[in-house]
Amino acid sequence: MKVLGIETSCDETAVTILEGEGDFTSARFRILGNALYSQAALHAPYGGVYPTLAKREHQGNLAPLTIQALEEAKMIAKAADTSAAERAADALAKIPDAAFRDAVKDFVSIQAKPDIDLIAVTKGPGLEPALWTGINFAEALGAAWNVPVAGIDHLEGHIVSALLKKESEKTFSLADASFPLLSLLISGGHTEFVLSKAPLSYEPIGGTKDDAVGEAFDKVARLLGLPYPGGPHIAAFAARSRERESGSDIEFPRPLAHDDTCDFSFSGLKTAVLYKLRAMDKISEEDKEQIAQAFEDAARDIIVIKTKRALKATGAKSFAVGGGVSANAEIREGLTKLVKDEFPETTLMFPDASLTGDNAVMIAAAGYLRHAAGRSVMAPLTAHGSQKLA
Ligand code: KG4
Ligand code: ZN
Repeated sequence: MKVLGIETSCDETAVTILEGEGDFTSARFRILGNALYSQAALHAPYGGVYPTLAKREHQGNLAPLTIQALEEAKMIAKAADTSAAERAADALAKIPDAAFRDAVKDFVSIQAKPDIDLIAVTKGPGLEPALWTGINFAEALGAAWNVPVAGIDHLEGHIVSALLKKESEKTFSLADASFPLLSLLISGGHTEFVLSKAPLSYEPIGGTKDDAVGEAFDKVARLLGLPYPGGPHIAAFAARSRERESGSDIEFPRPLAHDDTCDFSFSGLKTAVLYKLRAMDKISEEDKEQIAQAFEDAARDIIVIKTKRALKATGAKSFAVGGGVSANAEIREGLTKLVKDEFPETTLMFPDASLTGDNAVMIAAAGYLRHAAGRSVMAPLTAHGSQKLA
């Protein structure tokens, strides 16, 4: 079965054509076409993602990226049937922006139905104007091509990304995860634990009370004058400090470390960095590197301490980590050591480096797995900016 995946929840526009086979215990995937455009550089001067700008960029990039993915999948074919736009009339009428509506209409009028069986699109959580762009595009394509459209939870996508084991450049198999499966989602918008007692079902175990960990990385980067998204820059600065023998003698708090919940708090840590910077007269590059290290150490420790509690409380047999911050080497190392030393029976899974950030491979794969299990949420879809994984 071939799935066209579409992801537009934040500042990445991504389109993938993924072929899947097998069920949850034996699924295998092949990427037939994959196109992704990151708007990060565009949002960088504002220090965060600007929702209306993100929407406009998604609108401009969705059709070209879909063409790029179709081209790679060798699925470009000129439409002979002139009624595609008519079939999509109702879906097109739901697109408020005239220029985007015309672009989608033109696209479905020139591209014949490709060899796909399902369209999977992110329906939330994320920025609502951005989510709607992907949903409207997916529903217009679905109507024009007579292909069913399923809505996928972005966080389920991140969990699935951790379960995809890379076999070769373009192929993945689904990890043989045993249940209960604990997942930790760490990204720019989320920091939470969810427990799955069975495939594709989720129970919240704990989450952040204020900032997400990625948001804290981004805010601290901004305080240090580093570009958005800040995570990789903080990591690079911290690594330079660790390379020096003297390291960092700065110590930041680890909020909520000693309460007995699986909840997080990162805003106090960010404020501690702010106060530290205010108390310094001149801030050298070396100071910045030390602060980055002290911050990253604290963020890693909080995540490791809370994971220990969550693994104990749930008795999880496997543990998946997903989201943009799962790219962080320090956090990966901390979690790997914890599981190796204290939970050796638990299988730990991280996404392949190509799948840590937002992407459409994870959305297409989640779409495939839900469809195979007969548990898809079908169009008409509604964007839910802050929907909870259930
Ligand atoms: O999952 P993602 O691409 O988008 C959201 O759904 O939020 O995550 C983006 C977040 C940003 O906050 C970014 O700074 C962070 O992931 N990030 C990192 C690293 N790479 C990306 N944080 C720490 N270390 C990294 N290496
Ligand atoms: Zn994400």
